[in-house]
Amino acid sequence: MSGVVIVGAQWGDEGKGKVTDLLAERCDAVVRFQGGNNAGHTIVKDGVQWKLHLIPSGILHPGTTCVIGNGVVIDPKVLIEELDALRARNLDVSGLRISANAHLIMPYHLLLDSAGEAKLGSLQIGTTRRGIGPCYADKAARLGIRVQDLLDEKILKKKIVAAMEPKRLSLRPFEKDPSLDLKSMVEEHLTYGHRLERHIADTSKLLWEMLEEKACVIFEGAQGAMLDIDHGTYPFVTSSNPLAGAACVGAGVGPRAIDEVWGVSKAYTTRVGSGPFPSELHDETAEEIRRRGGEFGTTTGRPRRTGWLDLVALRYAARLNTLSALAITKLDVLSGLSTIKVCTGYRGAEGAEFDDFPYHQTVLHHARAELTEVPGWSEDLGECTSLSDLPKAAADYLELIEDEIGVPIALIGVGPGREQVIWTEAGRATLLGSGAQRSQSAL
Ligand code: IMP
Repeated sequence: MSGVVIVGAQWGDEGKGKVTDLLAERCDAVVRFQGGNNAGHTIVKDGVQWKLHLIPSGILHPGTTCVIGNGVVIDPKVLIEELDALRARNLDVSGLRISANAHLIMPYHLLLDSAGEAKLGSLQIGTTRRGIGPCYADKAARLGIRVQDLLDEKILKKKIVAAMEPKRLSLRPFEKDPSLDLKSMVEEHLTYGHRLERHIADTSKLLWEMLEEKACVIFEGAQGAMLDIDHGTYPFVTSSNPLAGAACVGAGVGPRAIDEVWGVSKAYTTRVGSGPFPSELHDETAEEIRRRGGEFGTTTGRPRRTGWLDLVALRYAARLNTLSALAITKLDVLSGLSTIKVCTGYRGAEGAEFDDFPYHQTVLHHARAELTEVPGWSEDLGECTSLSDLPKAAADYLELIEDEIGVPIALIGVGPGREQVIWTEAGRATLLGSGAQRSQSAL
């Protein structure tokens, strides 16, 4: 078995899509295991830009099986639109498989997400308003509608009625909203079922069979460790587990299927939505990084909050995921800064120092970043293809990260193009970096 998990090691938007896309051509299948269309990947391939929300980025590689696992929450309308858009650009999407057990984001989830945020006022989470939280809440309450329900009219209707009933009070302000009309909701969803039927499968079994055949499978996380509902900056988190451990449950495979865990981190930090961000910048450097890095949400278009690389949070993510490799993205964005700062510790409100991520929310909310200054570089990195091509200051910066985190850097992003990466020696020693080819048996 060869399973590689790729997760975000920060607050999401680390460039996992690009890393997965790059590695996807060396593997047989790419699986998403949590989240929904709150995620967004932008991939530039042969100069053409692709924006994906639900479909794994492996879809851009002919012959790669792409799986939306049971742990994902699917807005069927969005999925069908995404499929249609890819087809319109002549992309073969026939290899997409969708777990019959994945839960559906229903029209009332979207309304409840927005209403919930509005009610919270200044305490709002800053969700993507895609209905993610309410959908996972229904899943846990055992009131969820699953992909397989789209194929059975009677069950579908029964379950929608059961799901809407307990929400009657919260849905009252939307009573007249046409999207809540039961008859048309059922009809619309049956149509979605017809459209998606050919893709619906027992994806856990499919993956088991592929792994048994020694196929190489990538488990692609969405969001990032700090947005994990259990270990992130709760309540300013998403409603699923973006950590590597969730790959097994969200895809329906056992832990022994996982050989490597890659964590993706930018060379700096961003976050969208509310919540603590100790190394956040509020000055012109933040503006500069945002502008140069194109730090605006793929899904929502929101400007991202920007700050220095937070090694305390990254160490925490490395531990929670037992990372075996790091991919550092967007190193090129830092070119031109005379000095770069990096957060090596936190200082609490009462002066205490923290090398580890504080477990208490109050401490974290008042923590300030302890910054270490290192020299910057002015050279453009876009053409660098090996570590030795990098300016010394950039190579030193990477070494500092590696030393502080204790995880080898395998891959470094030096530009938006898929060829603008540097493989390190450690990277070439990984399953996918060693030139592992697709298994013939699985194809
Ligand atoms: P939700 O996932 O839409 O419920 O949003 C919860 C929190 O997670 C908010 O702060 C969002 O901004 C954040 N979030 C959700 N998805 C992503 C993502 O793909 N990248 C970055 N932040 C995200």
